[in-house]
Amino acid sequence: MNIGDFHRGRRLRRTEGLRDLVRETELRPADLIQGYFVVDSPDADFEKPIKSMPGQSQFSVERLVARVGQAMDLGLRAAIVFGLPAKKDPAGTGAYADDGIVQRAVTRLKETYPSLTVVTDVCLCEYTSHGHCGLLDAHGEVRNDPTLELLARTAVSHVRAGADIVAPSDMMDGRVAAIREALDDAGFFHIPIMSYAVKYASAFYGPFRDAADSAPAFGDRRGYQMDPANFREGLREAAADLAEGADILMVKPAMPYLDVLRALRDNFDTPIAAYQVSGEYAMLKAAIANGWLDPKRSVLEALLGIKRAGADMIITYFAEEVLPWIK
Ligand code: PBG
Repeated sequence: MNIGDFHRGRRLRRTEGLRDLVRETELRPADLIQGYFVVDSPDADFEKPIKSMPGQSQFSVERLVARVGQAMDLGLRAAIVFGLPAKKDPAGTGAYADDGIVQRAVTRLKETYPSLTVVTDVCLCEYTSHGHCGLLDAHGEVRNDPTLELLARTAVSHVRAGADIVAPSDMMDGRVAAIREALDDAGFFHIPIMSYAVKYASAFYGPFRDAADSAPAFGDRRGYQMDPANFREGLREAAADLAEGADILMVKPAMPYLDVLRALRDNFDTPIAAYQVSGEYAMLKAAIANGWLDPKRSVLEALLGIKRAGADMIITYFAEEVLPWIK
């Protein structure tokens, strides 16, 4: 090959204008869903910073409403809400109580900001005294089928409160079908299900379990969440959830599973969500706090990578922070 014959990729990188013309992926404010933690507290002004998630707090309902308002002024369009109930019990009744903490928060958010897209996490682990995602049998194993009805009730109560999308994160088999049927029976044909279809048993949920007070009291979640070693199984989970009626498929966590995200993008036409989880947030925040990473560049690169791998939307605790950067 002679000088001049080789590929001259630098031609299209020379100026800002050229780079803008050939850019393949772009992060938009509308792609982002901010995660929030709401606490059933008697103190209307309750706000407690979460140590392992710098910049994030647990909020009372009214504090949450105020915080979301500020974020919407920056361009936030969607939020996912996680609840910390005042009381827990073995059956997680707080998850499907009509006056439960998430139900009350969603009602207030939707009456204050009708244009906000509110997603709810449908799971029992924040509401059960044992911290598992469903009902337990005598041996401490999560019972799959009896749990489905409780998940379905949870989803219906979230939608009655005003949720725009329900997102089951429990990893019980058959829950998308159970939730779809219950929503339809209640007349909520128009409400989409965002399934945590490919959810791994990940160490990166550590900070979330402090934030949402949802660590299992014994054992772990490997009996229902996926083995991090498995890729093909992710395709089977996605296909199963689609067949059951999922409208959006999610991969979670995001960065350690970009291969799975890409495979879902290539194999399904459904919208795909990625969840950049608490540990991914904490990791970046810790390095940034130490001065080891540039905040804006590292966070935007991480989110762009998730989008490039195939995500249409990203659940991230960085949404509020990046909005001014991508406006
Ligand atoms: C509830 C749920 C969890 C997360 C989202 N929904 C915890 C878990 O599965 O243990 C984790 C999110 C995060 O780490 O940011 N089941």
